[in-house]
Amino acid sequence: MSLQYQSGFGNDWATEALPGALPTGRNSPQRCPYGLYAEQLSGTAFTAPRNENRRSWLYRIRPAAQHLPFEPFTGAPGWLSDFGSGPVTPNQLRWGPLPMPDAPTDFVEGVRTWAGNGGPAEQAGVGIHLYAANRSMQGRFFYNADGELMIVPEQGRLRLATELGIVEVEPQQIAVIPRGVRLRVELPDGQARGYMLENFGAALRLPELGPIGSNCLANPRDFQTPVAWYEDVEGDFELIAKFTGGLWRARIGHSPLDVVAWHGTHAPYRYDLRHFNVIGSISFDHPDPSIFTVLTAPSDTPGTANVDFAIFPPRVLAMEDTFRPPWFHRNVASEFMGLVHGAYDAKAEGFVPGGASLHNCMSGHGPDADTFAKATAADTTQPHYIRDTMAFMFETRRVIRPTAQALGSAQLQNDYYQCWQGLKKHFNPAER
Ligand SMILES: [Fe+2]
Repeated sequence: MSLQYQSGFGNDWATEALPGALPTGRNSPQRCPYGLYAEQLSGTAFTAPRNENRRSWLYRIRPAAQHLPFEPFTGAPGWLSDFGSGPVTPNQLRWGPLPMPDAPTDFVEGVRTWAGNGGPAEQAGVGIHLYAANRSMQGRFFYNADGELMIVPEQGRLRLATELGIVEVEPQQIAVIPRGVRLRVELPDGQARGYMLENFGAALRLPELGPIGSNCLANPRDFQTPVAWYEDVEGDFELIAKFTGGLWRARIGHSPLDVVAWHGTHAPYRYDLRHFNVIGSISFDHPDPSIFTVLTAPSDTPGTANVDFAIFPPRVLAMEDTFRPPWFHRNVASEFMGLVHGAYDAKAEGFVPGGASLHNCMSGHGPDADTFAKATAADTTQPHYIRDTMAFMFETRRVIRPTAQALGSAQLQNDYYQCWQGLKKHFNPAER
């Protein structure tokens, strides 16, 4: 079966898997074509402004209401939503990658919540998760009522069979699953590892471009939303829900991936990070790293995001008489980083694909001693090509609170602080 996508970002899509399945002229006709049920899926308040409003109309074999009662699900204890309320260490933190599981583990079971802030009750903040899985979800479907999910694969492709169509992603691509959309995660390569952002706030969208103009950064046409696809399958299945921070399980007698046609704005999409058009300085100095923002989820304060998703892709550094790696800095925002490919230019070693780092509000960080030595000796009349890399950052307004399982994990690098201890004193008041 060939997969098909529609190009654009946030469009009012319209797609049908059978000819004429999509009603025209009205959303809920008295009788829908092919005997389908009409159902609205809202991702924003009904009255949200037009440019914010997200909702889709689904034409499906059975309505989403048809399943047996939910009960608590204990099969995925790594997935957490309580980030605590006590003090958080200001130490810089870094982790190695999760090992692949030994026992059969599907995507839902393979999630390990590493950090987060806020929560679904506040409708603000994020959950930050790692995942490592080695089998497709079988007879199991999942949806998240608490937040939108952005999946960032590091190893292995994912085939996301959703209510609204099939989204395939590989490392260096991302997928976004809107709040509430049901899906089954399949692993075409037999195993998969990566990162996942759970956004409890307003939906991710493209950043404004200001003086950059009408092009560059992530271009809308490079985002892809699937066309309608459905399966008409009955059996003894389970539907896992994440709701109010907990996981729930209900038996369901059919696949909920039974939407034959749909139209609207609340829909999954994918994006290839290698299509990001990088903007940078062509004279001296660096712009702030906000120039690398792929997607942003605003908070109630203008200009201050609930979360930004930024990437550090291959690029050419041309700035003269400039310290070219990311500078030393302390930010009011908090930064969780991961690496999906290659090496990151601010660290000589220790930050590896599948690993993660966390630099919280006002915690000093920046290049390590080796990187500093190399950059201060570099010939900046020559361009520097950074080729094999794809790092990313989840940057949040609120402090990112690591979970106990992250702080207690074998992957925590207790010697991370050492990378700055070799920075020598060069100050000499007698010599300018
Ligand atoms: Fe930083």
